[in-house]
Amino acid sequence: MPEGRNRAFVIAVDGPAASGKGTLARRLAAHLGYAYLDTGLIYRAVGLALMRKNMVRADPGAALQAARALSLDDLDDPELRGDDVAGMASQVAALPEVRAALIDYQRRFAQHPPGKAKGVILDGRDIGTVICPDADAKIFVEASVDTRANRRVKELRERGVTAIYARVLEDMKERDARDRSRSVAPMVPADDAHSLDTTNLDAEAAFQEALEFITSQNMSDA
Ligand code: DC
Repeated sequence: MPEGRNRAFVIAVDGPAASGKGTLARRLAAHLGYAYLDTGLIYRAVGLALMRKNMVRADPGAALQAARALSLDDLDDPELRGDDVAGMASQVAALPEVRAALIDYQRRFAQHPPGKAKGVILDGRDIGTVICPDADAKIFVEASVDTRANRRVKELRERGVTAIYARVLEDMKERDARDRSRSVAPMVPADDAHSLDTTNLDAEAAFQEALEFITSQNMSDA
C-alpha cells in the first residue's frame, strides 16, 4: 500500500478481444510493480465449467452455480485460452446474476491486492464503468475489427492451431455485438477513460502512450 493512502492505486484497462489490452495491462503491471487480474479468465472459467458438463448454451442456473463455486486455481487452466471457451464466456457474461456473483471477487482483488502490492491493474470490459468506477486511471483500448481478427489468427497459428480468417472475423463480430449490447454492464468506454486505438500501434508504442497517460493522472507513484 502506498504510504499515506489507505487503498491501492487502481488502473482499469477495458476493451474488446485482441485489442491489445491484455498485453498492455500485463506490461504496465510489470513496469509499475502492480498486481494484475485478467477478469476475462473469470468468465472463461465459468464458461469452461459448463462446457465440461457438455452444455453448448449457457444455462443460467448452472452458470450461477459455477460462478459461486469459482476458485483462484480455476484461472490457471490452459484450456481457458481457447476460442470455443471465449464464445461460452461471452454467453455467461451476458447473464446479470452471473455478473453480480462475480463483482465482489473482482473488487476484493482491487482493494486487497495479493502480496500487498501498491496498485492493481484489472483488465476486462466493465472495469472502469462498473467494477471500479473510482479507478485512478482508466484506459479503453480499441482497434479495428479486421486488425483484431488478423492478430487473433496470427496468435492461433503461432500456437499451432488451424485458423481461418473469415471464421475468426465472424466469431469476433458476434462476440463484440453480444458484449456491447447486453443489458447489464455492456462493453462501453467510461466517460473519463483515455481512448487508446492500437490499430496502427505496436505493443511498445501502445505501452508508451498508456504510461504517459497514467503519469499525467496525478498518481504520485506511477
Ligand atoms: O477478455 P476475454 O476475451 O478473455 O473475455 C472473454 C469474455 O468474457 C468476453 O467475451 C466478455 C466477457 N467479459 C466480460 O463480460 N467482462 C469482463 N470484465 C471480462 C470479460
